[in-house]
Amino acid sequence: MQLDAQQAPLKIGIIGCGARAKAHWGALKNMPEARIVALADLESDRMAEVNGQLAQKAATYTDYRELLKDKNVGVVVIVTPGYLHHEMALAALRAGKDVMLEKPMAVNAAEARELEAEVRRSKQVLAVSMQRRYFRADAETREAVEAGAIGPIRLITCSELRGDWNPRSWQYTDPATGKKTNWRYSKKATGSTELEFSVHAFAEVCSLVKSPLVRVAASGGTVHYKDRDTRDLATLIAEFANGARFNYSFSCFAPGGGNTFSILGDRGLLERKGGRITIATGRGAAEEWKSKLPAASGEAAEFELYRDFFRSVKERSEPVLSARVAMEPARIAYAADLSIAENRMVTASELGV
Ligand SMILES: NC(=O)c1ccc[n+]([C@@H]2O[C@H](COP(=O)([O-])OP(=O)(O)OC[C@H]3O[C@@H](n4cnc5c(N)ncnc54)[C@H](O)[C@@H]3O)[C@@H](O)[C@H]2O)c1
Repeated sequence: MQLDAQQAPLKIGIIGCGARAKAHWGALKNMPEARIVALADLESDRMAEVNGQLAQKAATYTDYRELLKDKNVGVVVIVTPGYLHHEMALAALRAGKDVMLEKPMAVNAAEARELEAEVRRSKQVLAVSMQRRYFRADAETREAVEAGAIGPIRLITCSELRGDWNPRSWQYTDPATGKKTNWRYSKKATGSTELEFSVHAFAEVCSLVKSPLVRVAASGGTVHYKDRDTRDLATLIAEFANGARFNYSFSCFAPGGGNTFSILGDRGLLERKGGRITIATGRGAAEEWKSKLPAASGEAAEFELYRDFFRSVKERSEPVLSARVAMEPARIAYAADLSIAENRMVTASELGV
């Protein structure tokens, strides 16, 4: 369902105008359902760049709390480094705003729990921006699995070997040392590399397995770079209540990068390479999956992300990517971090989320 473009547009305030915000305002400025009326960032030139692209100039604030006091703003989009998500989302909910929050929900389990509770208490709508949910390849993979093409899932294997983080990321100042660093190099600012990056892959796995996490064993560290305390290598095995296993590896120093993804079921093997899905069942050669999903619209995933979110805002219903849904992949990241820190298997129940 597309919202009636004749209805008054939702008034949007964006907090954080860095690299990722471009995908948000790039979609929003072309959606009749929305109007960007306010921006907040510590750096005025970043807000000026966004305002230069908008038909009607938005109000600008260097203190995000002033944006939250702006009565013109109904929906707040939070696109700041992860360590600010908990504080900013809580404040936005308490100011009576609906929220589109960039992943991850929060940098640790305790903060994620508090945020989820506040969503329930406030009855405001909060969605977590994990736009991969709307990627064509992910949707076709879900379609094949849900159609029973490979039978019950036994093992998902995924590796994401990418290059380094965006060197132009915002500089975080560590309050303890006063040292400035790319915020993605700081554990305090990101929570963990698994939360900052791998949570997208974890979300896809949770949407396929559809069963609660039971336990995680992980290994990893900072083995390649010398200038950071966030991991550049990690590998983990997660087990779910229905018996499915997930075997995952990550690095951020792979020249050229390279990803692999496969799902082994009782009746076959699904492999995905460059968006192409094949199914091997042991009867003849592996065959390409023939999707029956409607033809791809060609729009960026953010349009669908926002359409779902706006529908929930209007209907006051739980969004597709609610805090409850976003908690599942975050739980894998929190468990992996604890497993590596304490060199042991971690059960989901001990996370308290
Ligand atoms: N969904 C995705 O695919 C995806 C991709 C990239 C990043 N992200 C997420 O988006 C968020 C931002 O990442 P990014 O790549 O845009 O980072 P960035 O470093 O490019 O931008 C961060 C912005 O936040 C601003 N900021 C910092 N502290 C602030 C404060 N107190 N008040 C207001 N603004 C403040 C900075 O000035 C900067 O403009 C992170 O949560 C990241 O995990 C998501």
